[in-house]
Amino acid sequence: MTQRYLVTGGAGFIGSHIAEALLRQGQEVIVIDNLATGKKSHLEVLMRVAATPAVQEKGGSLCFVQGDLRDFSGLQEVVRGVDFILHQAALPSVARSLEDPQTTSQVNIEGTLNLLVAAYEARVKRFVYASSSSVYGDSPVLPKHEDMPPQPLSPYAVSKLAGEQYCRVFAHVYGLETVSLRYFNVFGPRQNPYAQYAAVIPRFIHQILNGERPVVYGDGEQSRDFSYIDNIVQANLLALEAPEVSGMVCNIACGERITLNELLQELGKIFGQRIQAEYTTPRPGDVKHSQADISRARQLLRYRPIVGFAEGLRRTVAYIRQMEKERPER
Ligand SMILES: NC(=O)c1ccc[n+]([C@@H]2O[C@H](COP(=O)([O-])OP(=O)(O)OC[C@H]3O[C@@H](n4cnc5c(N)ncnc54)[C@H](O)[C@@H]3O)[C@@H](O)[C@H]2O)c1
Repeated sequence: MTQRYLVTGGAGFIGSHIAEALLRQGQEVIVIDNLATGKKSHLEVLMRVAATPAVQEKGGSLCFVQGDLRDFSGLQEVVRGVDFILHQAALPSVARSLEDPQTTSQVNIEGTLNLLVAAYEARVKRFVYASSSSVYGDSPVLPKHEDMPPQPLSPYAVSKLAGEQYCRVFAHVYGLETVSLRYFNVFGPRQNPYAQYAAVIPRFIHQILNGERPVVYGDGEQSRDFSYIDNIVQANLLALEAPEVSGMVCNIACGERITLNELLQELGKIFGQRIQAEYTTPRPGDVKHSQADISRARQLLRYRPIVGFAEGLRRTVAYIRQMEKERPER
């Protein structure tokens, strides 16, 4: 049966992939986005998917609302009649939050609270929230387990943790079903390589394709649990349906640890050349190591990583190479 899904931030990297997966299932999808970092080109892809006979036959449809999480009455209108919410919209950068903590808080904390209230009023069946591994901070304990005390190191991490806590409170106090997914470093097609605060994988690929030396903040021995986008989409779809998870937080990653120097080696294999990086001073607020314990997601959501790091990296290089050939908007 077709259900109505609201994907916030659906013009962004992760949200557009989730919206696409739902459309392909034949669902009714509403995207709300203010296009702060999202792209019209991603919406155009979604519109093309929605227009395919396979999606049409299943009853799938797409509606885009250009709106802002900070506009509560606008949210109330959009949420009316929605069955499920996948809340991906946020200002998703540590560096940006250090420069402008207030806007990060208004969008990520108050925006999430607005959406939770609107969801409660509209009796939404489940609310899945995009949280972040940044809430763990720089604790030397690895892998990171959900029961570890959070220790945010940036306004961004504080904002993601506050969103989680609101989700937990809305589950326990108001009975709204919520699940928070703590994504570790996500990568894949549609992640913006040109943004001022671009994530490391698309930024490195863009720099290599343009004959530049990738810039590494620190000695390159910092590590991350990089997850290809398909794994994150799968986790969201599972979180919509899993029983007995309301109010919970689950790590979503691959459970591996890859240093930036290893990432550069892997890129060297794909490009068939030795990559010479430029090493510079570490950035404030960045954590040194990150690796997830994904046993809770395996158990509660039946989540399994489906695309590994090397394969995901090959697909991402192929996408950015093609995109740069076509010279789209930047
Ligand atoms: N990419 C990662 O590695 C990663 C890791 C952990 C958590 N997350 C979380 O996942 C979510 C999606 O991140 P992403 O990487 O796709 O980023 P993104 O910037 O591509 O997507 C965020 C979207 O939210 C929209 N948005 C921003 N402010 C808004 C507002 N006030 N109202 C409406 N829409 C607004 C943007 O326009 C954009 O389309 C975020 O909540 C982020 O915190 C991402």
